[in-house]
Amino acid sequence: MRVLITLPQALAERALIRLDKFDVLVVPPEPEDDARVSAALGNADGVLITPRTRVDRDFLSCAPKLRAVSTYSVGLDHIDLAAAEERGIAVAHTPTVLTDAVADLVLGLILMLARRLPESMRVGASGDWRNVPMGIDPRGKVLFIVGFGRIGQEVARRALAFKMKITWFDQRTPKTPVDVATRVLDLKKGLADADFVSVNLDLNPSTLHVIGRDALLCMKPSAYLINTSRGPVLDQIALTETLRDRRIAGAALDVLEQEPPTPGDPILKLDNVIVLPHIGTATAETRQAMLDCAIDNLIACLRDEPCLFLATPKH
Ligand code: DGY
Repeated sequence: MRVLITLPQALAERALIRLDKFDVLVVPPEPEDDARVSAALGNADGVLITPRTRVDRDFLSCAPKLRAVSTYSVGLDHIDLAAAEERGIAVAHTPTVLTDAVADLVLGLILMLARRLPESMRVGASGDWRNVPMGIDPRGKVLFIVGFGRIGQEVARRALAFKMKITWFDQRTPKTPVDVATRVLDLKKGLADADFVSVNLDLNPSTLHVIGRDALLCMKPSAYLINTSRGPVLDQIALTETLRDRRIAGAALDVLEQEPPTPGDPILKLDNVIVLPHIGTATAETRQAMLDCAIDNLIACLRDEPCLFLATPKH
């Protein structure tokens, strides 16, 4: 069976060892290789991809034999699930193995914002320690979690250890939500009452720009926003203006609407924003577990064996 891998070279080399029973072609995820990917798809039974490979109807039309798409991510927004389902193509992803890493990062960012670590580092390095930035305690502050799936709930568990009060909003009802957290049915009300907002949504048509200008303006001027999910769930132009005008105190963003951002992106110029290069899952252990999970998923789907992490219904 033929497999096409669009992982970066170092990951692909590790995958090749486990996929030694398959006929594998590696095409690294560079835009100039798009034509090679399309050509290679003609014979592919399965693909192992990152979110940089967009699986849309055009992609699928080049892949008449395709039976399995395995993505090295929990996010599925780069895949047209409906189109895959119409063709009976199994799509699988890597939830659970990355939940702790992303939740850890959210808490790190809450502490960075609360204790004003970026400014404190600048003061520390300047040698002039007369005016140290004054932070706030997370203790007793309201953390509003938008999106209360696996990651949102792990954020809640960690934040409880910092004695924060947890509220949450989700259009879906989670199976076993953390019981010491309070559900809020009105997104804007939750935003208005929060000291910190953590966005932990998956990106789909119902969550695109779900936090727009009106929602941002509901927040307190002293409140902070953290997004580690997907950039487009926030309206970034509105967010940039809100931060520039100090209508909210600050933000920490691990994801942006365009990744990487252009050097002229105005959000990069603001002094009340922390921007990270999408590192939510970037620990050695988590990335290894994601790779193992993505490979297991691909092999299971191609061999018609049970796959734990299917995103499309089983046929
Ligand atoms: C994911 O797994 O979706 C992470 O955001 C990495 O893309």
